[in-house]
Amino acid sequence: MILIIDFGSQFNQLIGRRVRENHVYCQIEPPSVDIDTIKSLRPDGIILSGGPSSIYEPNSPKMNPAVFDLGIPVLGICYGMQFMVDSLGGIVKKAQKREYGFAELVIKEPGVLFKGIDQKTTTWMSHGDSIDALPEGFTITASTENTKVAATVNKKRNLYGFQFHPEVEHTVQGRLMIRNFLLDVCGCETSWNMKSFAEEAIAQIREQVGDNHVILGLSGGVDSSVAALLIHKAVGNQLTCIFVDNGLLRMDEAVKLKTVFGRHLDLNIRFVDAAQLFLKALDGVSDPEEKRKIIGRLFIDVFEAEALKIKNVKFLAQGTLYPDVIESVSVFGGPSAVIKSHHNVGGLPEKMNLKLVEPLKFLFKDEVRELGEELGLQKDLVWRQPFPGPGLSIRIIGEVTEERLALLRKVDAVLLEEIRKSGYYKKLWQSFAVLLPLKSVGIMGDQRTYENIAAIRAVTSRDAMTADWARLPYELLGTISNRIINEVRGVNRVVYDISSKPPSTIEWE
Ligand code: XMP
Repeated sequence: MILIIDFGSQFNQLIGRRVRENHVYCQIEPPSVDIDTIKSLRPDGIILSGGPSSIYEPNSPKMNPAVFDLGIPVLGICYGMQFMVDSLGGIVKKAQKREYGFAELVIKEPGVLFKGIDQKTTTWMSHGDSIDALPEGFTITASTENTKVAATVNKKRNLYGFQFHPEVEHTVQGRLMIRNFLLDVCGCETSWNMKSFAEEAIAQIREQVGDNHVILGLSGGVDSSVAALLIHKAVGNQLTCIFVDNGLLRMDEAVKLKTVFGRHLDLNIRFVDAAQLFLKALDGVSDPEEKRKIIGRLFIDVFEAEALKIKNVKFLAQGTLYPDVIESVSVFGGPSAVIKSHHNVGGLPEKMNLKLVEPLKFLFKDEVRELGEELGLQKDLVWRQPFPGPGLSIRIIGEVTEERLALLRKVDAVLLEEIRKSGYYKKLWQSFAVLLPLKSVGIMGDQRTYENIAAIRAVTSRDAMTADWARLPYELLGTISNRIINEVRGVNRVVYDISSKPPSTIEWE
């Protein structure tokens, strides 16, 4: 197992990914993790991530330097290396030239980490500080034109540092460097897979939950579904899932969910039909943030009211994923700008005095899908595209009414049917329809029409942080448009959204 300490770099997910690609398990912890916790995790190696801070800023994130005395190999990347050097008596200074982008690394001393790496190799840098003096026992193993200490080692203590980022694709041989660290320095076994993850997770859930009761908000999305299955395998009927139908779901969604999870998978589910409640609360509201807040608050109220009916509940389970954890571990305290307030059951654990069970919190989305398959979740659920908590309400621009919902459901159903048929469903991060608050003139038969406009959004993405509009074949777009205009009364125009994220977002609201 490899422990990753998160100093706030935007590439932390990639470090995790590189480790997992080698079938080695890894876990992320904030710098505040105490030494006893680290010892109890018994990591084979520790990676200190990069971060945007400067080590000599007063509030820069620091961890207990005793981490370097544990006898566990440590690899510091960028800020992580600077923290190591600073803690052990070296000097870090503002670099004369900020280095950002590609840099040719010249290896002076191959050692274990550079085994199999070319003597000159392309790396990627992003730093404003540099090492001015190394602590005792450290030597320089590689340099670039601007950075003398681009890589360093203290062989005796098994401490390593890279100024560049081996985890990003731009560092051409970075994968091999990380693999060398995992296998040759840390001696990790490459045996981690989803089956072993599931077994360990089930045992851990049993231990954590004991004979108490767990509740979980089931949405039908991959994350909450897989979390539910895993917990169900661990504690059976001590898990109650709560499914809130907010009236903002796609066509037949609620019925499908009942059949699959209630009947086929035998989960203990409470269905709450809150559609009217949500619609009423949204009545006359057209501001996107207001919609989101109303839905978020109401969801918590409805969920809580239902949860209170269940006895002996001590735990709330959530399908939180590794990227969510990374995003929420804020080491600098400064809140990042709220672009859209996301909807979850935030606030509930404190209010109801519940402890969290988050069995997926160290997995990436694709790993969750793999786990879902391992647990026997049916393929079309495993491969579902994400669907936002506020549902269709943020895809109806302007006011949400029952009529507009019904219209969008029809459009969306046609779109999804065609996307599935074409084989594009799995290739796209998301594909959906948006209803605009506009009408346009058309002609049908010999009649003038004055009807709604539907927009189609289809994007490719790895993680929703960035996304590109999908280059769907014109033929497919043509079929989708024809079918929508012919089959859905009330729509006479279809447009295709060709904006990428950033600067646009995936959802329209
Ligand atoms: P944006 O629109 O911010 O969306 O580019 C990024 C991803 O997040 C999904 N999304 C949400 N998911 N609750 C969710 O569970 C929300 O409130 C929410 N808003 C957006 C969106 O569908 C996309 O995959």
